[in-house]
Amino acid sequence: MNGRPTKLAIIGAGAVGTAIAYSALIRGVARSIALMDVNAAKVAAEVLDLSHGLEFVPRADVVGSDDMSVCAGADVVVMTAGAKQKPGQSRLELAEATIGLTRSILPRVLEVAPDAIYLMVTNPVDVVTRAALEVSGLPPNRVFGSGTVLDSSRLRFLIADHCGVAVQSVHAYIVGEHGDTEIALWSSATIGGVPLTQWTPLPGRPPMDFAAREAIRDEVVHAAYKIIEGKGATNYAIGLAATRIVEAVLGDEHRVMPVSTVADGFPGLEDVCLSLPTVIDRGGARNRLEVPLSDEEREGLLASAETLRRMQARFGL
Ligand code: LAC
Repeated sequence: MNGRPTKLAIIGAGAVGTAIAYSALIRGVARSIALMDVNAAKVAAEVLDLSHGLEFVPRADVVGSDDMSVCAGADVVVMTAGAKQKPGQSRLELAEATIGLTRSILPRVLEVAPDAIYLMVTNPVDVVTRAALEVSGLPPNRVFGSGTVLDSSRLRFLIADHCGVAVQSVHAYIVGEHGDTEIALWSSATIGGVPLTQWTPLPGRPPMDFAAREAIRDEVVHAAYKIIEGKGATNYAIGLAATRIVEAVLGDEHRVMPVSTVADGFPGLEDVCLSLPTVIDRGGARNRLEVPLSDEEREGLLASAETLRRMQARFGL
């Protein structure tokens, strides 16, 4: 960023937005963090609370307001404002409320942060990302969604736990919709470079057989429902996942992450936003990888795309 201090702006100071601010402070992701929320008292209190911890984190300042001007000059803008998923409610059921909100908020943010990279987190994140692309008119690399970064993290955690290895040694992706139709790419999953399809259980550990894979995938797909049932929302893991994406942008890391982008160039996936492994750098989400897919995985991805296409059509996207 040519030596200028980096600025992260977060729209929405709810459970997710503040988790992103908190984890960004701890990881020293940006020199300045701006929180914007229509609830002036809430955002002022969150800024105070975060600021009182600045002694303990890498140098940064935290500002906040109910006025969009607080986002001025941001390098990355993260959108978290939206309706909360109620127990048992699917993410796609939030679409009407959150697409309307995205269409009203984004033009106002663009006025003050015209050069930013825009990361959508609000659910249903794939359809919201499509709406954000349309309303912003920005190139597709500059508007993308957190997608299945969190779902892939859940998958890796469960594989690591099942196999008795560190989660950092697991490479596996969830792709497609960030939601009920998402797909686990078992055919390309590895542990320490060993394909999961050739995995020999460590002593005392259970096999990674079909039943285990089905149970793990089911646990990933239903993870958010289970957490929302218990505590009303998910926030920590999505906060860390979104922060890691922002870090990859601001650090120009060229890190491969399954973010939600418009899927042009992939037969059958055109015109929808969904997640596939993509290179993240200072320009945003630029190059999608042609990850190998089994026939079953390809079919699942096409079905996921069709679900999203039907949802998009309901909102003229
Ligand atoms: C979840 C939310 C972020 O999966 O959709 O926890």
